[in-house]
Amino acid sequence: MYGSGCVVMTDIVKLPFDATEIDDYNYLDILNQSTIEELVVNKNIDTIVHFSALLSAVGETNIPLALQVNCRGVENILQVAQKHKIKVFIPSTIGAFGPTTPKEKTPDLTVQCPTTIYGVSKVIF
Ligand SMILES: NC(=O)c1ccc[n+]([C@@H]2O[C@H](COP(=O)([O-])OP(=O)(O)OC[C@H]3O[C@@H](n4cnc5c(N)ncnc54)[C@H](O)[C@@H]3O)[C@@H](O)[C@H]2O)c1
Repeated sequence: MYGSGCVVMTDIVKLPFDATEIDDYNYLDILNQSTIEELVVNKNIDTIVHFSALLSAVGETNIPLALQVNCRGVENILQVAQKHKIKVFIPSTIGAFGPTTPKEKTPDLTVQCPTTIYGVSKVIF
């Protein structure tokens, strides 16, 4: 869609062997702010789509790591984005709501009392 070499993908895991359509893949630990910044500068990045996270079930098994990845990771991304004036997209989740949130026609602004550290970390940001 954006052309060859226009999208840089990153993660801390190896690509599956059948992921042949991805032509620019890099190891990047979002807990390391300087390596985020290095990639942004070296690749002249103008937009970050930030997906890295520990989701509900995994997050509950290691709450300290979930807080690191989900909170410190977002903080690192936002600080680099602010410094280099780039756009950021970070998805939210239904996990940001909780049992006390109205279930019918849930408004955008409503009670958010999540019951997982994953949901809590989304509400924080
Ligand atoms: N899957 C869904 O249904 C859903 C729904 C709503 C929102 N989202 C959001 O979309 C995003 C991605 O979700 P997903 O389903 O692809 O999750 P996923 O678990 O498949 O992917 C998360 C990725 O983060 C990576 N990661 C973990 N620690 C890291 C680190 N220190 N540095 C770099 N990468 C690291 C993992 O290796 C993994 O590939 C999340 O922010 C999630 O909240 C997902």
